[in-house]
Order: sequence, then structure tokens, then C-alpha cells
Amino acid sequence: MTSRRLVLTRCASLIGAASTGLLLPAHAQASKIRVGFMLPYTGTFAQLGVAIENGFRLAINEQGGKLGGREIEYFKVDDESDPSKGIENANKLVQRDKVDVLVGTVHSGVQMGIQKVARESGVLSLIPNAGVHAATRGLCAPNVFRTSFTNSQPTRALGQAMIAKGHKKAVWITWKYAAGDEAFEGFKESYTAAGGTIIKELGLPFPQVEFQALLTEIAALKPDAVACFFAGGGAAKFIKDYAAAGLKGKIPLYGSGFLTEGVLEAAGPAADGIITTMHYSDSLDTPRNKKFRLDYAKAYKAQPDVYAVQGYDTGLLLIQGANAVKGDLNSKPVLYKAMEGATIDSPRGKWTMSKAHNPVQDMYLRVVENKENKVLGVAAKALADSGAGCKMA
Ligand code: PHB
Repeated sequence: MTSRRLVLTRCASLIGAASTGLLLPAHAQASKIRVGFMLPYTGTFAQLGVAIENGFRLAINEQGGKLGGREIEYFKVDDESDPSKGIENANKLVQRDKVDVLVGTVHSGVQMGIQKVARESGVLSLIPNAGVHAATRGLCAPNVFRTSFTNSQPTRALGQAMIAKGHKKAVWITWKYAAGDEAFEGFKESYTAAGGTIIKELGLPFPQVEFQALLTEIAALKPDAVACFFAGGGAAKFIKDYAAAGLKGKIPLYGSGFLTEGVLEAAGPAADGIITTMHYSDSLDTPRNKKFRLDYAKAYKAQPDVYAVQGYDTGLLLIQGANAVKGDLNSKPVLYKAMEGATIDSPRGKWTMSKAHNPVQDMYLRVVENKENKVLGVAAKALADSGAGCKMA
């Protein structure tokens, strides 16, 4: 081959490589960042999934729809809050769609499937709700970050608040699965430490809503108060059934704040007076929260709730990470370090990431008044999960 032909051949292959993006530095890649949502779009948590996606997109859209300068392509899987399909659904995004980041999910049981896939594949996994302890305790991982809470975080702020109101004997009621059982752990720890006695634990399988027999039992037990974990469509029905059973006004109802998130329109006056603890409140009187609520309402013609905030914060966290690596999500050590060190300027108030990758955040005490979660005060300041058993920490 003559030297001239050799040069031409080399040029041709260089042009070929450039057009496929191979020669560009990673951060300047023309390819889009692939973001996968694995969320419930059907069933009792459907509304929660939609709020999370809306919140996430709002954060990204505030950045011109880009991440670290790169365009985004979205993928979606409805996980139906079905734990038996958790691994298969996560693999649809990770193996079939080859996402760079998986955003999901709501249900703790389904999260365990995602966690397995995330640990095995190394894909960046952002948890916008599910509070299952293991994800940021024994099964924590460098590539997994949670922007919401652990299941026992909100209820660890609840016990003292109930005792302060003079309620010394309580009944606990929940859906019997990881989220309810771990919420109970937090309640039991805080309530008994403050001097309370739990006289009965009641439960029913997720996502059942046949509360009648259990409400009859509560009436017979005559506790000073009831504390619970329910969420989504089931929470709205529990609030209405509690009032219809004649318990409202007689036995005060408390809960982790999910009970009164996204359900106040549906529950109506039956929700008035319910006291909860949560890392957000719609009525937080800060410029940050007010602006967020206005922007969200404009974009979606709907009121945001804690799920929308968690989705939004997931976007904020990813933006901070992506900016630190100029869009090259494969620069993992730098990406993870930026996300670990992030302070999120959230509508809920500023929060930081624990070593096990779970928010360190304030818990508010709230009461429902006229379809609003009104803030009564801060029930726990900068509350962190223990992260017990997390080896990476
Ligand atoms: C959960 O399953 O972890 C879960 C679901 C809904 C909530 C909170 C936690 O509102």
C-alpha cells in the first residue's frame, strides 16, 4: 500500500469513528443519557408513581431538560407494586433498555428486586420513595442512593408527640409488609421510650382495604389513640372508614405522614384533626417550598405532595452528580463522591446524604386542617437512619 493510500484509509476510519461518537471525550458524547422510571402506574400506589415522575421531570426541565449538558431519553416500566415481578421489571430497564440510571420505586418489596439487580449490574439506582431498611443498611451499595426516608424514620418522631398529648395506651394498625413492619419498629422504639404502651398490633395484607373488622376491634379495645401506616388509595379509604365507624373524634388518629399525603381531596373532612410526622408539609412557609408548589401546579395542574417532592429531589441529586462529571455518568468514583457530598436544597428544607446514602432530614409534626397538612413544629431535627450493617459506610 502506498503511503498516500494508507493516509486516506486512516482518515476514512477516523471519520467513521468520529461519526459514531467514539473519538469524542466521554463528557461530550452525542448520545443521550438513558433514564428509566420503574414506578407503580396502576394499583393503590398509582398516584404516587405519577407524582414522583412529575417531580423528577420538573427538576430536569428547570435545567433545560438536560443532565450535565446531555440530552435525556426516558424509559418507563409499570411495576404494579408487585414484588414477585420486581427483578424481571428492573431487568427490562437495565438489560433490555440499557438505562444509565434507574429511578424507582415506591413499594419496599419491589425495591428489594431492584436492589438485587442494582448490586449485580452496578447500574446507578435512585430510590425516590421505598423505605425498606436493607437498601441503606445491610444491602447498601455505592451505586444506590435514596432521596426519601427509611421506613422507621417518620415514626421515630411520632411516639414522643403522642405522649406529649397524654396518649399513654395505643393500638398500632398497618398493612403487613416491610413498610408497615419497619414503620412499627420506629413507632415502638419512640413510643415505649417516651413511656407509652402498645396494647395491640393489628394488620392486614397489602393492598387489602377491608378495614371493618379491625375498626370494630379498635372500638372494643378503647385505646387512648391509634397510630398507623397506610398510603395512597388505601390511606384515603382507611381515613374515611375510621370516621364512618364512629371513631373520629373519640379515639385520635396518628400516623406516619403518608397517611395524609395526596389523599386530602379524596378523604375530605374525615381527615381533619389527624396528626402525623413527616419530612415534608405542603404548608411549609418558605420561599423554596412556595416556588416549588407554584411551578408544579403550573406544570401539572395538580397539587404536589411528599412523593412529588421526593421525585423532584431525585432530579436535583442526579443533576448535582451529572454536573460534577459533565454528563459522563461512567466516571463513577467522581459521580458517587459528588452525590454523597451533596446538600439538596429541597422544598422540604435542606438535607444531606448519610454515609449509607439515606437523607439526614428534619421531621415535621403536622395536623390536617381543611385539606392541608398544617405544620405544628419540628418533631425531630436532622434525623438520620442508623445505617446499621452497611459495610460501605
Ligand atoms: C414502601 O413500601 O416502602 C412505602 C410505600 C408507600 C409509602 C411509604 C413507603 O407512602
